[in-house]
Amino acid sequence: MAAEIKEFVKENGNQVIGQYTIEQVYAGMKGMVGMVTETSKLDPDEGIRFRGYSIPELCEKLPKSSAGPEPLPEGIFYLMLIGEMPSEDDVHNVSNLWARRAIVPKHVFDMLDKLPVNTHPMTQFSAAVMALQTESVFAAAYRKGLSKKEYWDPMYEDVMNLISRLPRVAAYIYRRMYKGGVHIEPDPKLDWAANFAHMLGYDDPDMKKLMRLYLTIHADHEGGNVSAHTTHLVGSALSDAYLSFSAGMNGLAGPLHGLANQEVIRWIIDLRNYYDGAMPTQEQIKEYVLKTMEEGKVVPGYGHAVLRKTDPRFIAQMEFAQAYMPDDENCKIIRMVYEVVPPILSGIKKIKNPWPNVDAHSGALLTHYGLIEYDFYTVLFGVSRAMGVLASLLWDRALGHPLERPGSVTTEWMKGRVVKSPV
Ligand SMILES: CC(C)(COP(=O)(O)OP(=O)(O)OC[C@H]1O[C@@H](n2cnc3c(N)ncnc32)[C@H](O)[C@@H]1OP(=O)(O)O)[C@@H](O)C(=O)NCCC(=O)NCCS
Repeated sequence: MAAEIKEFVKENGNQVIGQYTIEQVYAGMKGMVGMVTETSKLDPDEGIRFRGYSIPELCEKLPKSSAGPEPLPEGIFYLMLIGEMPSEDDVHNVSNLWARRAIVPKHVFDMLDKLPVNTHPMTQFSAAVMALQTESVFAAAYRKGLSKKEYWDPMYEDVMNLISRLPRVAAYIYRRMYKGGVHIEPDPKLDWAANFAHMLGYDDPDMKKLMRLYLTIHADHEGGNVSAHTTHLVGSALSDAYLSFSAGMNGLAGPLHGLANQEVIRWIIDLRNYYDGAMPTQEQIKEYVLKTMEEGKVVPGYGHAVLRKTDPRFIAQMEFAQAYMPDDENCKIIRMVYEVVPPILSGIKKIKNPWPNVDAHSGALLTHYGLIEYDFYTVLFGVSRAMGVLASLLWDRALGHPLERPGSVTTEWMKGRVVKSPV
């Protein structure tokens, strides 16, 4: 593929693919094509496609465990990495490889134990990934001397090792913070997601099903979002997978990115408390949405930088709720909010997307099974997102992507570029 791209660029490299405006430069470069990511592509109206497959197609076609219809996340990783739909054997193979590699060195746990126990779980997660960097095969190989053509090989080892170890690290943080430091040993017979639920302390088979779905649908969202772009950017300096992924996680920890899922469930609980804990009516929800905006806050879980329709990942979670917890009150409220919010946001000109995103539902599902430590939700997101951004990082090295270094200018420079229209 590297040869194919080289040839493609040689033949077509001088073709113009777009124009952009001053406004776009000041508005976070949205809509400007500036990078290539092979693992997934986001369509504003249709949502994410992983190697061409939509979320509903993936839910149908990816291999499943014998326990239920939810896809195994090992499958989406295989699909993103190899570009082909995996067989059951392929998925089983990834599961086994990850189980065998999931050994976390003691110094990582020792480092975590030294942090104040109330350190935000995302800070602990990112720090733990940095502590794991001692294990980088890429960094060691690079120090010894490595041909450019071989970069991908030790990067593959890092990517596989890091993904396999993340559930153990995340579960350790969770049990340390919220369960008195009583830890649960992994069960290597379980698949990656089920084992994660098990180590967190959730052995309800339906929670394991939720974890499979959750980890699958959060895995990637093309390359320009903050965590994916950061991982790619830091990796472009030939930083190894640990350094790059930890940086990406610091971006995921921001409230406009991955932290929104904890904001949503807090908002739902606050809404309920505002009406004395009773099921709110549609009118009350409307009143509460308007109150939120009057206070200068965003309605969490709604809007998106690229999407312009309901996020199919929201729909997948809503269907899960209808199948497994049809009477859950928070999920019912989320469905009511879905009826109330889009018409309100549609009436506000500046808002480009009034529809729910992936974060609008996940908290209610996790809460249903007792995982109520909202601050931890972004860590779950991060464990899933590792699969997409690290599969991409591996492709970056395999394809020989260069150091990323966009130009930057001052406002003074910008003013000097303005073409004055004749008076
Ligand atoms: C996701 C998000 C950051 C996208 O931002 P964006 O690309 O700038 O979106 P837009 O161009 O539509 O925003 C234009 C304006 O509408 C506002 N807006 C967008 N979504 C809004 C929402 N859900 N509630 C209230 N106002 C919203 C923005 O804050 C912005 O206002 P400003 O110009 O005064 O700063 C934004 O929609 C948001 O903050 N949503 C809530 C948080 C959330 O759910 N994040 C998870 C993302 S997956």
